[in-house]
Amino acid sequence: MSQRPQSTQIRLAARPQGEPKDSDFETTTQEVPELAEGEVLLRTVYLSLDPYMRGRMSAAKSYADPVEIGDVMVGGTVCEVVGSRSERRAVGDVVLAYTGWQTHAVVPARQTQRIDPDLAPISTALGVLGMPGFTAYAGLLEIGRPQPGETLVVAAAAGPVGSAVGQIARLKGLRTVGIAGGPEKVRALSETYGFDVALDHRDPAFREQLEAATPDGVDVYFENVGGPVAAAVWRRLNTYARVPVCGLVADYNATAAPEGPDRLPAFMGSILSRSLTVRGFIQSEFVESHTADFRRDMGAWVRDGDVRYVEDVVDGLDAAVAAFRGMLRGANFGKLLVRVGEDPVRG
Ligand SMILES: NC(=O)c1ccc[n+]([C@@H]2O[C@H](COP(=O)([O-])OP(=O)(O)OC[C@H]3O[C@@H](n4cnc5c(N)ncnc54)[C@H](OP(=O)(O)O)[C@@H]3O)[C@@H](O)[C@H]2O)c1
Repeated sequence: MSQRPQSTQIRLAARPQGEPKDSDFETTTQEVPELAEGEVLLRTVYLSLDPYMRGRMSAAKSYADPVEIGDVMVGGTVCEVVGSRSERRAVGDVVLAYTGWQTHAVVPARQTQRIDPDLAPISTALGVLGMPGFTAYAGLLEIGRPQPGETLVVAAAAGPVGSAVGQIARLKGLRTVGIAGGPEKVRALSETYGFDVALDHRDPAFREQLEAATPDGVDVYFENVGGPVAAAVWRRLNTYARVPVCGLVADYNATAAPEGPDRLPAFMGSILSRSLTVRGFIQSEFVESHTADFRRDMGAWVRDGDVRYVEDVVDGLDAAVAAFRGMLRGANFGKLLVRVGEDPVRG
């Protein structure tokens, strides 16, 4: 193998306090290593930016190990194979990998999954047909147990998880209430994603609007955000409501507990008195049990236009830090991706 390009990498330089700063990261460049037997050289095309990455920047105990200071930031990627010493992958293949915030990487071929560029745009392997879409599908169906005629509420509803949750729930016959930040996203909730009601959590009258939007209460609250939105929805939950706890993005940059009275006793009291099912999950626990069904159902829904998706693509690895910071504030509009290098299919 003679091909040995340079890889540009974004590494964690310090553990962010609150919102990540530019100085929490450093950019390095190094020659990629020689390929060993069974390895492939990958050129990153798309890097997925996801809220969970904020957790990886922190040393706090979590379901996954933190990124160590000095290491390349982790992340899902769609890559083109540009060198191969494996029979599994040929030069020119497009693959799903987990090579993180860098332009090139050498990994064992078995750690990549081939993507068929004829089925859908290759970027969707990081969004609606990838981890976020899967999270919505498995979390909603397995924990939310949606029933026709019920009411579902989801926030971050213009994002890849929330938009998929709302659309799958609609396909299952539920009345759907989507919550997002700002008029542009709220419009997309109705016009693009078909939510029955679309609310803006930044509107001062949000609580009253939510009450008016849920005259029969809420049967499934797909928890993506936490914070004041969750507190407002919580009051509307019906007896036997289900709450798949998927994410708490409102708190990811928090440096201290929220001010005010201790709400834990009231929270526990409502779980008891309203017989609520509150169940956290990490999507990976459902990979074995739900991947085949997800591929079949979501593949068909996306192909037939029953589930729509929006991508927010920023150009160049050097745009990653600012884009990531913006996502935690709601600046993204759709699945946030960094186009690190040319898309071999779309250009
Ligand atoms: N459990 C799992 O396995 C798993 C897997 C994937 C994702 N997740 C979680 O699912 C959630 C959504 O992920 P995603 O990839 O679809 O992200 P996303 O919607 O693209 O981005 C996060 C969105 O959160 C909203 N937000 C931020 N601060 C908020 C606040 N204080 N109150 C209300 N909304 C706020 C913003 O939208 P607005 O502008 O609309 O406010 C922002 O665009 C995240 O919590 C993520 O951690 C969990």
